[in-house]
Amino acid sequence: MGYEAKFKVWRGDTEGGGLHDFTVEVNEGEVVLDIIHRLQATQAPDLAVRWNCKAGKCGSCSAEVNGRPRLLCMTRMSTFTQDEVVTVTPMRTFPVIRDLVTDVSFNYQKAREVPSFTPPVDLKPGDYRMQQADVERSQEFRKCIECFLCQNTCHVVRDHEDNKHAFSGPRYLMRIAELEMHPLDVADRRDLAQEEAGLGFCNITKCCTEVCPEHIKITDNALIPLKERVVDRKYDPIVWLGNKLFRR
Ligand code: SF4
Ligand code: F3S
Ligand code: FES
Repeated sequence: MGYEAKFKVWRGDTEGGGLHDFTVEVNEGEVVLDIIHRLQATQAPDLAVRWNCKAGKCGSCSAEVNGRPRLLCMTRMSTFTQDEVVTVTPMRTFPVIRDLVTDVSFNYQKAREVPSFTPPVDLKPGDYRMQQADVERSQEFRKCIECFLCQNTCHVVRDHEDNKHAFSGPRYLMRIAELEMHPLDVADRRDLAQEEAGLGFCNITKCCTEVCPEHIKITDNALIPLKERVVDRKYDPIVWLGNKLFRR
């Protein structure tokens, strides 16, 4: 059965903005993105929202619903009571372009800073058989749809704009971890992780993992193993001596 819901939607641009009240029809089985589309069709034709697949796979429709980072297309209206006011705001960590659309270029910049997969130069096709555990680890990380909800949620940048230059965020630390743990990647990415991508800023609060719509265990399977590798090298006396002798 349909009903009328109360919505508050943030509207504005780079100059500022605020919450606007709407009363809007909701039908059975709908998600928050359906309601935003109905607002565009009936009351606010210039309301800006980014979306593409409406199936939880493109990562475009990230925003915050009642203050929680969510994909709009995967947030069912049935998770709210009919008298609950539903508040939709843009992701807080990235600059607003207009209404619910933010400028996520921070993430593309951080992606570019991760050197690509580096296999041994003399490796020929068929020379190496991957272990199943290595395949599964990469497959888990590769489920990422680049929604940037983890990047938006991590307190290191969410509350501290000035950390952005020194912290790549969970999504790109996970990419570094994937390559660092890849048996065929010969690059050593531990200095990159610690010194350029800001791994030390992460105090494993796991908020990134909690919001990931692909249920990737970002903290347990990527960030903690990466921290262990960085620490191992730092406190391994043989490695320490090697660094002293050969890295002057
Ligand atoms: Fe989104 Fe998860 Fe990828 Fe982060 S790791 S960008 S939350 S899919
Ligand atoms: Fe941030 Fe995730 Fe670490 S939320 S602090 S990157 S565990
Ligand atoms: Fe593609 Fe929501 S529209 S993930």
